[in-house]
Amino acid sequence: RNSYERRAVKQNIQSVASLQPKVEASFKVAVLGAAGGIGQPLALLVKMSPLVSNLHLYDIANVKGVAADLSHCNTPSEVLPFTGPEQLGDALKGVDVVVIPAGVPRKPGMTRDDLFNINAGIVKTLVEAVAENCPDAFIHIISNPVNSTVPIAAEVLKQRGVYNPKKLFGVTTLDVVRANTFVAQKKNVKLIDVDVPVIGGHAGITILPLLSKTRPSVSFTNEEIEQLTVRIQNAGTEVVEAKAGAGSATLSMAYAAARFVESSLRALDGDSDVYECSFVQSELTELPFFASRIKLGKNGIEAFLNSDLQGLTDYESKALEALKPELKASIEKGIAFANKQP
Ligand code: NAI
Repeated sequence: RNSYERRAVKQNIQSVASLQPKVEASFKVAVLGAAGGIGQPLALLVKMSPLVSNLHLYDIANVKGVAADLSHCNTPSEVLPFTGPEQLGDALKGVDVVVIPAGVPRKPGMTRDDLFNINAGIVKTLVEAVAENCPDAFIHIISNPVNSTVPIAAEVLKQRGVYNPKKLFGVTTLDVVRANTFVAQKKNVKLIDVDVPVIGGHAGITILPLLSKTRPSVSFTNEEIEQLTVRIQNAGTEVVEAKAGAGSATLSMAYAAARFVESSLRALDGDSDVYECSFVQSELTELPFFASRIKLGKNGIEAFLNSDLQGLTDYESKALEALKPELKASIEKGIAFANKQP
């Protein structure tokens, strides 16, 4: 049996034992940009979730084949393809979680901000449709530059009177996934146990891993801190260069995005122990959006883990101050774009 089937069997047994059969597979998830490098493996991972009943795949190209292929996996969710602006509304109706990896990725030599001109418009259009068709959904923005596309999404939702800051998330999970992996490798600790909060934003120096807050507690030399911080900040570029023009991080990103989807679904399902880092509207600093650890619940963000920002090392405090001007400019660029007259 595969792990999904084992889990299903185990849960049935537990349900019989408690005489309270748990309704599984009850959430609807939509992936917008589902035929892309991230979208396809992400859709596969979401198809494996026992919490998902319906998986809606939307793209402007090639999505029918992706859905046909995935629909043969023997997990319960029903997979449906949607393509073209005329089907976007149907892709979104009744959806609990919308994930947006639509847009163009980086090529070698490009920054995430270089993607702004194309991706800003794509995110704006897609979020307009979300506002109209499923304003209550959790919205996960993957399309870069996240530091600007999340503020764009917030403005679009505000313009339509449906903005709920507790339910709009910039997906920065990959930064945490990378930080955990690199720290475990460097310090030879058990990977499964490592958790490094990553705060700030999702580009270059705005990505700030708080290595001093690593759990379980690990000590680093100054040199290790510098090396690890720079590697985590440039890990996306490491992949872009290794792929040499064939795209950016897609598989690790799909893994990270699927983790964030699963966390959101667990929160929606009533699990009271769900924590993730995400780039969200925030009052932790003077910046209107900021990535930090949050507690997720049925209604979205339930709490901010303020303690992460207390007791920072000198290195982290300086890095935090240094990232603020860049992050502020990216946020303002997004807000200005969303509010400019057509
Ligand atoms: P890709 O080019 O392989 O796929 C993008 C997909 O979006 C394509 O299938 C394309 O047809 C689709 N698309 C384009 N315009 C669309 C529209 N208006 N509506 C619906 N679908 C549309 O790109 P990839 O590698 O999947 O990357 C997607 C985005 O994710 C990029 O912006 C990239 O920078 C970002 N990214 C974000 C990361 C993060 O940590 N948040 C990490 C890695 C990438």
